[in-house]
Amino acid sequence: MLLDILLFLINAHCVLTVTNGYAPVRVKCPSGKLTRSASTGLNENELTYMHSRYPIAKSNLANYLQSAKLVDFNVTSFLDETNPTIGIAFSGGGYRALLTGAGEYAALDSRTHILQGTGLGGILQSSSYITGLSGGAWLVGSVASNNLISIDELIHNNTLWQTANSILNYFDDNIVEQLLMWIDIGEQVKAKQEAGFGISITDVWGRALSYQFLSNKKQYGAGYRFSDVMNETNYRNHYAPFPILLAVGRVPDTTIANLNSTVFSFTPFEVGSESPYLNSFVETESIGTLLDNGFPQNSSCINGFDNAGFFMGTSSSLFNAIILSIDNSSLPDFLKDFINDSIIDPIIKSNIDVAKYNPNAFYKSQDPETPIESSKTLYLVDGGEDGQNIPLVPLLKRNLSVVFAFDNSADVSGLPDGTSMVKTYERQFSIAGQNTPFPYVPDQKSFLQLNLTSKPTFFGCNASNLTSLTPNVFDVPLVIYVANKPYSFPSNTSTFKLSYNLSDRNAMIRNGFEIASRLNGTLDAEWNACVGCAIIRREQERLGQEQTEQCKRCFEKYCWDGGIVK
Ligand SMILES: *[C@@H]1O[C@H](CO)[C@@H](O)[C@H](O)[C@H]1NC(C)=O
Ligand SMILES: *[C@@H]1O[C@H](CO)[C@@H](O)[C@H](O)[C@H]1NC(C)=O
Ligand SMILES: *[C@@H]1O[C@H](CO)[C@@H](O)[C@H](O)[C@H]1NC(C)=O
Ligand SMILES: *[C@@H]1O[C@H](CO)[C@@H](O)[C@H](O)[C@H]1NC(C)=O
Ligand SMILES: *[C@@H]1O[C@H](CO)[C@@H](O)[C@H](O)[C@H]1NC(C)=O
Ligand SMILES: *[C@@H]1O[C@H](CO)[C@@H](O)[C@H](O)[C@H]1NC(C)=O
Ligand SMILES: *[C@@H]1O[C@H](CO)[C@@H](O)[C@H](O)[C@H]1NC(C)=O
Ligand SMILES: *[C@@H]1O[C@H](CO)[C@@H](O)[C@H](O)[C@H]1NC(C)=O
Ligand SMILES: *[C@@H]1O[C@H](CO)[C@@H](O)[C@H](O)[C@H]1NC(C)=O
Ligand SMILES: *[C@@H]1O[C@H](CO)[C@@H](O)[C@H](O)[C@H]1NC(C)=O
Ligand SMILES: *[C@@H]1O[C@H](CO)[C@@H](O)[C@H](O)[C@H]1NC(C)=O
Ligand SMILES: *[C@@H]1O[C@H](CO)[C@@H](O)[C@H](O)[C@H]1NC(C)=O
Repeated sequence: MLLDILLFLINAHCVLTVTNGYAPVRVKCPSGKLTRSASTGLNENELTYMHSRYPIAKSNLANYLQSAKLVDFNVTSFLDETNPTIGIAFSGGGYRALLTGAGEYAALDSRTHILQGTGLGGILQSSSYITGLSGGAWLVGSVASNNLISIDELIHNNTLWQTANSILNYFDDNIVEQLLMWIDIGEQVKAKQEAGFGISITDVWGRALSYQFLSNKKQYGAGYRFSDVMNETNYRNHYAPFPILLAVGRVPDTTIANLNSTVFSFTPFEVGSESPYLNSFVETESIGTLLDNGFPQNSSCINGFDNAGFFMGTSSSLFNAIILSIDNSSLPDFLKDFINDSIIDPIIKSNIDVAKYNPNAFYKSQDPETPIESSKTLYLVDGGEDGQNIPLVPLLKRNLSVVFAFDNSADVSGLPDGTSMVKTYERQFSIAGQNTPFPYVPDQKSFLQLNLTSKPTFFGCNASNLTSLTPNVFDVPLVIYVANKPYSFPSNTSTFKLSYNLSDRNAMIRNGFEIASRLNGTLDAEWNACVGCAIIRREQERLGQEQTEQCKRCFEKYCWDGGIVK
């Protein structure tokens, strides 16, 4: 009887469901070449967005600096002659990074009222860029796809981030709905494959993630594209910082990920890397198109390969393996077989963390072509697999004045020890990292013993110390490093904890708010001003202006002084 009802429901559902939202579709080709060399600088559309965005960001920055109570400092006259720019980076670390990052994001957001806190409200509105990888890509991908939603609204909204049930068991004891979820996912991924595209477990993972992060969209975002983000109101009116997600390129037939790896950026306009091993970008909306040196090889082009959930899944592909652990009795045949194949085939299994992009839009995009460019399939993995768990690289390519590096990594006991900063520092000396200068940082032992992880720490405080790294010292941002720390909640949870009841979810967010706000301003009444001092520093140095007494005091408190522990 129950089975009959189930079968009836499922049949009725399949008839009604439109499954082709996920499968890429054929469109008329835009004219010309769809890839470009990274040597030509930033994407034209990104520059156009920034051209309209920056005046808004700057006027919000004026408000922030006014309210931050900088002593003996004339904000108006300073901003009349300078253009400080801000980037914000959210590290990976699963739900721990998502939720802690959300609290940090809330602390920077002038719209935050729920915590009634004294944070850094207005910095988000003053920023040019916001980046995320892995768990941080869930945060950035989810808020960007939802029109730069505020955390207040998200918490009050009862559809997004329903973390009480595991990502793999979203509907929990609603067995029918859960069954239908896997049926839909199976149909969608199958439709992509039948349309002629390569698929990987990342397709399944990305669709499962979307039930949490794109739940406001039709069919849980099956047809929502990352390129659609620019059509959200807060992007059309240039209110939002520009979003970038990260992944790491994998050379075919290897499983290597190191500091020589190719770091990929995903923006709503383009995907690619400045690394010399790619040095190319392709238009995001066309990424599923069969190209040769950027030119379409068929009479039609492809749109819709850039599903937002698929991009979030790519950035967090380390989690692909957990798809293999789903109770297969509840899976439709297509998924059951797909997962079985992935387990049986030793090559697929040892590359289970790979997101396949087939066709490879970068095919022969450089001459001579590198291994990534001579492959018919592009293989990407989790943005944190090269050890750089904070998504800094694209920000370092954009000459910002200051970068917030929110580190929610699990290095020791579920908390950061600076490893990600060390890796990004080291990367500038690899071939892939050339022309990506990053300030000096100490080793992990010093990070811990000098308490550089127990309160926010500024790196690169003095640009003139950086001359041995680059001639263009003022283009290297000052980095505000902020490591996870438990205040009101034990926030060093496991990366692979895939469910949080709503009260723990909110407690993690609150703890994140406390980290970024120096415990709601109680640990340092001057914290807002000190962050202001960091934001204006590079432009002051450019002009040769002396710091105020207050800013000198702040730098004494928050700058790493160059010391290390022997
Ligand atoms: C700050 O600078 C502006 C513009 O240069 C000037 O009009 C204003 O009087 C100054 N404010 C103070 C308090 O000095
Ligand atoms: C932050 O401090 C304000 C008072 O300044 C207080 O009303 C609010 O409850 C505090 N919020 C948090 C999250 O501690
Ligand atoms: C909040 O959820 C409702 C559905 O319950 C949805 O219609 C609405 O768009 C959501 N709000 C935002 C800002 O996403
Ligand atoms: C952009 O958004 C508007 C309203 O939200 C919608 O009507 C329109 O179809 C969207 N355009 C594209 C190209 O997605
Ligand atoms: C760096 O990676 C490229 C391919 O991505 C490879 O050709 C090169 O040998 C590597 N160099 C080092 C020093 O590992
Ligand atoms: C696209 O072109 C390639 C090579 O020219 C061909 O093998 C393939 O079947 C074509 N695909 C479609 C969908 O037309
Ligand atoms: C389903 O799971 C069972 C138990 O874990 C396993 O024995 C079986 O091989 C799996 N079937 C498939 C198709 O993976
Ligand atoms: C898994 O795939 C293998 C090889 O294709 C097949 O022999 C086996 O029967 C499959 N197992 C299940 C449980 O479907
Ligand atoms: C950043 O600055 C460098 C050196 O001054 C310059 O070559 C490069 O074009 C700038 N990049 C951007 C994105 O402005
Ligand atoms: C680091 O913090 C601990 C605990 O607050 C303190 O005992 C120690 O002196 C601090 N170390 C340094 C180098 O400031
Ligand atoms: C910055 O570094 C330069 C050169 O190393 C040094 O002369 C100057 O005193 C430093 N400034 C500060 C504020 O530490
Ligand atoms: C910067 O340079 C000054 C003077 O040369 C030195 O005392 C200080 O330790 C350096 N700071 C860093 C962070 O390297």
